[in-house]
Amino acid sequence: MSGPNSDYDPVEVTPLHGDQVAAMRAEALAAIADVADLDGLKRVRLEHAGDRSPLALANREIGALPPQARKEAGQRVGGARKDVAAALSERAEVLRADHEGRILVEEAVDVTLPYDREPVGSRHPVTTLTERIGDVFVAMGWEIAEGPEVEAEWLNFDALNIGADHPARTLQDTFFLEPADAHIVLRTHTSPVQARTMLSRRPPIYVICPGRTFRTDELDATHTPVFQQVEGLAVDRGLTMGHLKGTLDHFAAAMFGAGIDTRFRPSYFPFTEPSAEVDLRCFVCRGAVPAIASCRTCRGEGWLEWGGCGVVNPRVLVACGVDPEEVTGFAFGMGIDRTLMVRHGIADMRDLVEGDVRFTQAFGVEV
Ligand code: DAH
Repeated sequence: MSGPNSDYDPVEVTPLHGDQVAAMRAEALAAIADVADLDGLKRVRLEHAGDRSPLALANREIGALPPQARKEAGQRVGGARKDVAAALSERAEVLRADHEGRILVEEAVDVTLPYDREPVGSRHPVTTLTERIGDVFVAMGWEIAEGPEVEAEWLNFDALNIGADHPARTLQDTFFLEPADAHIVLRTHTSPVQARTMLSRRPPIYVICPGRTFRTDELDATHTPVFQQVEGLAVDRGLTMGHLKGTLDHFAAAMFGAGIDTRFRPSYFPFTEPSAEVDLRCFVCRGAVPAIASCRTCRGEGWLEWGGCGVVNPRVLVACGVDPEEVTGFAFGMGIDRTLMVRHGIADMRDLVEGDVRFTQAFGVEV
């Protein structure tokens, strides 16, 4: 008869049996080698190295063994657990590297791809130029006046001394609104704002009137049925053509650079007397020899056509309730689109109206 545990043979205790421990170890190592990702490894770790894993349970049995058996069993189980732990951390390292490698590939960003598939666009250069023109005049104490695009025929023509038989009134140029006997047009120029301003306030008047204007032109490289003008009107005591010239020279320099001035060529407008065409000194060659000869901007002229101007015709002052004995006035008008085209060498008017953001973007974001 043997006493309890005195001749206990650890080989007899199943979980501590050499083959069993080896089998647990082998199973654990196989499971570890088999696992394909970090989540799987977590499960395998719990199963084969967790508190309830076969090897952990076997380890618990060791304490119950007789002292002489503990060492060998301890070494066997401990060795197996160490091997499993080592295999786990080695596999974890491999899987982590694998995972990171995959992220690098799967979430890679191709920084060479175009970034602006949905361009945000920018403000239209006609808009920003219009605002700049406003700034030039507001800085001189002028005001900005506005008028409607749908205008009374009388203000667009008659008030400006453009009689019923004037060629500008023919259906060729002007959009008339129906019914014809309402005498409503789409304004053909910004000049009716002159009349509106004089009718609604007393001199001194210093205003510019930028805005959209309409004529029955087909859209091509040099015409568009909708375009922009800026009108200037000054009415005060003692104003002369000299004040007009000085104002336009300042305007030209502000738009095209210091030293760029204007010249007047005699002309005719019904609403001004005398009248002149305004030319702008070519801001590229400045009219200087020999650059002028090969200048593509002014084609050797030294000057660029800019607009019209003159001393307000007394008949217009009278029509608008202003006494020509007391005050005089000067006025001018030019195309904003044309100013922009000259300033930036834009050859085709269609670029201004087609709304292609690639065109506006070239002007940058100006606020
Ligand atoms: N209204 C004219 C046009 O559309 C431009 C113009 C010329 C305006 C002379 C003026 C001016 O104020 O004085 O062609």
